[in-house]
Amino acid sequence: MRALVRETRLHPANFVLPLFIVPGEGVRRPISSMPGQSQLSIDQAVEECREIRGLGIGGIILFGLPESKNEEASGAYDEQGIVQRAIRAIKREVPGLLTITDVCNCEYTSHGHCGRIVNGDVHNDLTLDWLARSAISHARAGADIVAPSDMMDGRVAAIRAGLDGAGFSNTPILSYAAKFASVFYGPFREAADSAPQFGDRRSYQMDPSNGREAMKEIALDLEEGADMIMVKPALAYLDLIRQARDRFPDVPLSAYQVSGEFSMIHAAAANGWIDLERAMMETLTSIRRAGTDFILTYFAKPAARLLT
Ligand code: PBG
Repeated sequence: MRALVRETRLHPANFVLPLFIVPGEGVRRPISSMPGQSQLSIDQAVEECREIRGLGIGGIILFGLPESKNEEASGAYDEQGIVQRAIRAIKREVPGLLTITDVCNCEYTSHGHCGRIVNGDVHNDLTLDWLARSAISHARAGADIVAPSDMMDGRVAAIRAGLDGAGFSNTPILSYAAKFASVFYGPFREAADSAPQFGDRRSYQMDPSNGREAMKEIALDLEEGADMIMVKPALAYLDLIRQARDRFPDVPLSAYQVSGEFSMIHAAAANGWIDLERAMMETLTSIRRAGTDFILTYFAKPAARLLT
């Protein structure tokens, strides 16, 4: 009877699994703060993607750790960059697997910030060109969707114009529209080696106090041409997911259950304090119930296995 009247259901097709791509071959380096997650060289990522496709998971989102970093984040928009090469390999070897790319500079800058530094702070407008070039290079390599996570103002318009100008008018933009300056990104910064070397990201990511501003950020990104939107993190922002769903009912809406949300559940479960599988399913269900269409989650594989 419970199944008959259940309002919210999870399905593997609504999950997107983040992958961290590193240089080399045969590399599968466990991320200590994220149990079960590893940095993968391209050949290993391809193997992983076969399994992901086999589980019916909706897609992957790629993050890259380049060979070397510099002030100009050149690895982010290099046609032979780590993510660009990974996309080509995955598209060739695992056709049909939806491939999203994270568009940001923090993994590629020597200082770890998401944009170009001028006078000690990130310069919004000078960063837009890097973002557009990254998105174009991803689309050229075969990315199905590009997802800017940098939080510069005007980046969706800049990326849209760049993609259209380069002949990729059919490549959609998934905007990390409401992304907060959150403590829950901690483990990710180990995984992606992207911790800022000075200061923090509060000059471009949002204040966790501001829900109305989140709706404004979403509305602006949609005006600029975003095709899908995201709220990030998920669990501490379920109210804003619900508001976004109600205010923008016709737009595909996602949320990112971020690294810290994942690691907290693992840490508590490792202590025997909560049940891992139930906590995984309950949080994912609540993120869906709040109004998302799909969820970026490090639990994609174990949750998919449980569901099938
Ligand atoms: C890049 C980016 C971050 C995350 C996704 N893209 C880190 C940050 O903004 O500091 C975090 C994802 C996670 O914690 O799982 N800007």
